[in-house]
Amino acid sequence: MSELTPNAGPVRPRRLRRTALMRDLVAETAIHPSQLIMPHFVTPNATDEAAIPSMPGIAQVGVETLLGQVDSDLKLGIRAVLLFGHPEAGGKTPEGDAAAAANGAVQQAVAALKQRFGQDLIVITDVCLCAYTDHGHCGVLGADGTIENDPSLGPLAAAALSHAEAGADIVAPSDMMDGRVAAIRAALDQAGLDQVSIMSYAVKYASAYYGPFRDAADSTPSSGDRKSYQMDPRNVREALREAELDTLEGADFLMVKPALPYLDVIRAVREATHLPLAAYNVSGEYSAVKAAAAQGWLDEAEIVRENLLSIRRAGADQIITYHARDALKGGWL
Ligand code: PBG
Ligand code: ZN
Repeated sequence: MSELTPNAGPVRPRRLRRTALMRDLVAETAIHPSQLIMPHFVTPNATDEAAIPSMPGIAQVGVETLLGQVDSDLKLGIRAVLLFGHPEAGGKTPEGDAAAAANGAVQQAVAALKQRFGQDLIVITDVCLCAYTDHGHCGVLGADGTIENDPSLGPLAAAALSHAEAGADIVAPSDMMDGRVAAIRAALDQAGLDQVSIMSYAVKYASAYYGPFRDAADSTPSSGDRKSYQMDPRNVREALREAELDTLEGADFLMVKPALPYLDVIRAVREATHLPLAAYNVSGEYSAVKAAAAQGWLDEAEIVRENLLSIRRAGADQIITYHARDALKGGWL
């Protein structure tokens, strides 16, 4: 580097950091509100609003409450939502059939959102069985207690189809079964829903950061863990393999999840794919920030900005984050 200096005096990178405008002029990364996706937990009772203690600021909501939240979020600039659902009380079964119920909470919410907001809102649905199975696993349980892969594909495709028929723009399978993107693509195409996109949770790690979410979605497995289907946190080559397979199966978007402990994985997948890449800043990442901020130990605005910027800098295009509303309301980005 010394050949850069001879007649120019000492190199002074600080020149470009002198003023706020100069820093903005040379900024390499930005977060656009259009890239933020706000998650919602939808319950069957239309006017419900139940706070989730482990996720301050986030509630389980019925359709009516959801419409109000989405309306005010749209005014802040949040143009995409990701919906998770709850079955009716007593609605959990071994195969999670309620995940595909045409009149389920998610299906009704999708229809209501699309009717009210049309093309002003992108509706994404999480496709999984874990909130609907009585054992809480993301696939069908075999007699010996293993999570069966191929028998899970039919119920997953049925759930995705029910969301698409209700009007979802994007379905997002989060179960981590092999072959589910292909199964869902085939089911959608066969039904003439070839314009519905698939955002694959292609690279989803078996993570302790999902803890608060499982309170919110009531989806904690009653036995065992998810390590036989979600990825091992020690691996990154395996992430590229999952990303490649889901691409070949027809995914329109890939996702890495969680985000902050896996920025290296986001970077690696970004460099390996031409597809849009989403990152999920998950419940535990959110709750840790909220808890520290509530104690006065961290500056929430600054931390959220830094966290979300780091996810974009690592190479994610879209960010799914529970911070979206607060960040835009507070002008933190
Ligand atoms: C369920 C699902 C999970 C999340 C999204 N979909 C939890 C899990 O796999 O146990 C996690 C989201 C979050 O923690 O915010 N398939
Ligand atoms: Zn699941």
